[in-house]
Amino acid sequence: MKNKILIVGGQGYIGQVLLPFFADKKYLVTSLDNLIYNQKKKKLDKKLKSNLVDLDFRKRNLIFNLIKNNDIIIFLAGLVGDPITKKYPVLSKKINRFGIINFIKILKKFNEKHFIFISTCSNYGIIKKNLKANENHKLFPLSRYANDKVQIEKYIQKNLFKTKNFSTILRFATAFGYSERMRYDLTVNEFVKTLFFKKKLEVYDQDTFRPYCHVKDFANIILKVIKSKKSKVNNQIFNCGDNRHNYSKLSIAKKISKYFKNPKIEYRDLPSQDRRNYQVNFNKLNKILNYKCKFNLDFGIKEIIYYLKKNKDHKNKKLGNYKVNILK
Ligand SMILES: NC(=O)c1ccc[n+]([C@@H]2O[C@H](COP(=O)([O-])OP(=O)(O)OC[C@H]3O[C@@H](n4cnc5c(N)ncnc54)[C@H](O)[C@@H]3O)[C@@H](O)[C@H]2O)c1
Repeated sequence: MKNKILIVGGQGYIGQVLLPFFADKKYLVTSLDNLIYNQKKKKLDKKLKSNLVDLDFRKRNLIFNLIKNNDIIIFLAGLVGDPITKKYPVLSKKINRFGIINFIKILKKFNEKHFIFISTCSNYGIIKKNLKANENHKLFPLSRYANDKVQIEKYIQKNLFKTKNFSTILRFATAFGYSERMRYDLTVNEFVKTLFFKKKLEVYDQDTFRPYCHVKDFANIILKVIKSKKSKVNNQIFNCGDNRHNYSKLSIAKKISKYFKNPKIEYRDLPSQDRRNYQVNFNKLNKILNYKCKFNLDFGIKEIIYYLKKNKDHKNKKLGNYKVNILK
């Protein structure tokens, strides 16, 4: 049985949800992460089998053995999001482009490993109104972040899809929901936090659409991918999210505002620098992997409110991808 999982970026927002999820399911999980945000490390119950390795995935000589000793590699690590990659352009290129390519070069030597690369629906950029992008839709990355993801996808398609390697690309929708490594720089999480602390919420680009997905659904989807027959998932790209969860920012703000008394919301007409506007089609996930998301926006909103009530100190904390502590 393939039961050893290496989670690269295991101490990130999504990683800290995946670690206990797979450990609870009796996988032996290893997290590889350099804690680039100085984030608090998630430790697992001693009863669960896990290794937590504080390491930069660019340390080539050390990652060889980590790859060798695992069956499945879930790759999440990198500088994530448009603002942080814009803020650190040189570092971003070193990690998100060259670092990942070098990692894949090492991984390529082990064609029995299942490599699951986490990409993003941001790759679609802008698409026509009333159209939902499926996996074959033209990619139109608008940021450094998405552009590097597209380049890595191409590299994987050229170097792993056409060989004996076993790999899958998952394009995630924008995440929301609770993680111990919280990111309040993500739309839903940010809107809930702002209104919870009675601050004014400024909404830009209210009519732009994007798909959203709860972090727990991502965990379920990866489990499905791991458990599927190789013929179903090898050399495949899947959009990960739900057709019902394509939302405009306006509809998200309205939904969230219902949970608060007298919410202060200002809709700004000024266009922001984020031009993304796309809706995504998730039929392939539904049909091939037989998966439909279980957690909707209301579930996520209530969950974050519950969590904020217990963590009022988050009011003045900048939790998210704002400042790195490693510059090389
Ligand atoms: N969060 C979302 O909305 C979203 C949406 C689509 C796709 N994704 C993808 O999911 C993945 C995880 O996103 P996230 O929200 O958990 O981001 P995150 O920033 O919380 O996690 C990234 C992790 O990578 C680690 N890391 C960065 N550089 C590293 C290096 N050189 N070596 C080792 N570790 C390193 C960081 O310390 C961090 O723990 C990313 O690949 C992202 O592109 C996320």
